[in-house]
Amino acid sequence: DSLTTFIAHLPKAELHVHLEGCLTPQLAQTLAQRNNVPLPNSVKQASTTSSSGFAFHDLSSFLAVYYSAMTVLQTAADFHDLAMDYLTKAHEQNVLHCELFFDPQAHTSRGVPFPTVVSGYRSAVLQAQRELGVSTSLIMCFLRDMSAEFAMATLMDALPFKDCIIGVGLDSDERGNPPRKFAEVFERARKEGFMRTMHCDVDQVGSIEHIRQALEEIGVDRLDHGTNIVEDARLVEMVREKRIGLTCCPISNSVVCSDFKGKEIMQLFRQGARVTINSDDPAYFRGYANENVLRLAREEELKVTRKELVGLMKNAFEISWISSWSRDAFL
Ligand code: ADE
Ligand code: ZN
Repeated sequence: DSLTTFIAHLPKAELHVHLEGCLTPQLAQTLAQRNNVPLPNSVKQASTTSSSGFAFHDLSSFLAVYYSAMTVLQTAADFHDLAMDYLTKAHEQNVLHCELFFDPQAHTSRGVPFPTVVSGYRSAVLQAQRELGVSTSLIMCFLRDMSAEFAMATLMDALPFKDCIIGVGLDSDERGNPPRKFAEVFERARKEGFMRTMHCDVDQVGSIEHIRQALEEIGVDRLDHGTNIVEDARLVEMVREKRIGLTCCPISNSVVCSDFKGKEIMQLFRQGARVTINSDDPAYFRGYANENVLRLAREEELKVTRKELVGLMKNAFEISWISSWSRDAFL
């Protein structure tokens, strides 16, 4: 219909996609064969279910499947192919700019060297720019359920790769792993010139305290998810005033949270917060950029207008971490 066509044609930027969350059961199968490694059970199950999707029902069960499936990623070529697979799909959906999360510790902790991971991703970034015209940079996430020392060592590993890693983030299991645990790592990252963001999802921890720490103690440049900030007028005023962006993910929310959070997203947007729509782990939640925007736009009671859809996408370009010169070219 005309709404689908409108969204498909809208120029888009993606600021919250995990590269390892772009690993489809099909690609996992190809890589397992190529590397002669056993197909993880999670992938076997995903390939045999009628809906051909991975099986999980909340963040913990999602993360278990997510980490087990990525053992098929071994060589730089695998990381390259994973990123190109996603970037090709993004390009088909008129995504012009991507800032892609990746989880190096999920690979280095099982013996894959850091430079193997980043060199594979980097060659895809360059190829996508050259062949598809998609501008792309990488955001390195620390796994918050691992130690701050491991995160700091990973930050040191990243220093020679500042040409393609634009910022750092924090993901994985949020419970018991507050932003404060990584204060020193994020301070060093700031001094090294990295932009900084963190996953903060009230549904995982039951309070807004992690959002507060990220904003007030760490001083992040963006918040990933963070939608429940809407409950705290003071913090909403802070993100508005400091123009701190929120990268929200409707379809992901509908799987790992109580709700897809459309109401909160639109309330924040209409209050002038820099809210954006993203796809998180598209191969797992089975929704890329267009499907996530459509999920929001189709919710009748939200009454989202086309002008607002343009505004949401404009926010994404505005809060992106591309240079202001290229940003002006997009806007
Ligand atoms: N790592 C990859 N996807 C994630 C998500 N949705 N939440 C937390 N950590 C993640
Ligand atoms: Zn995420």
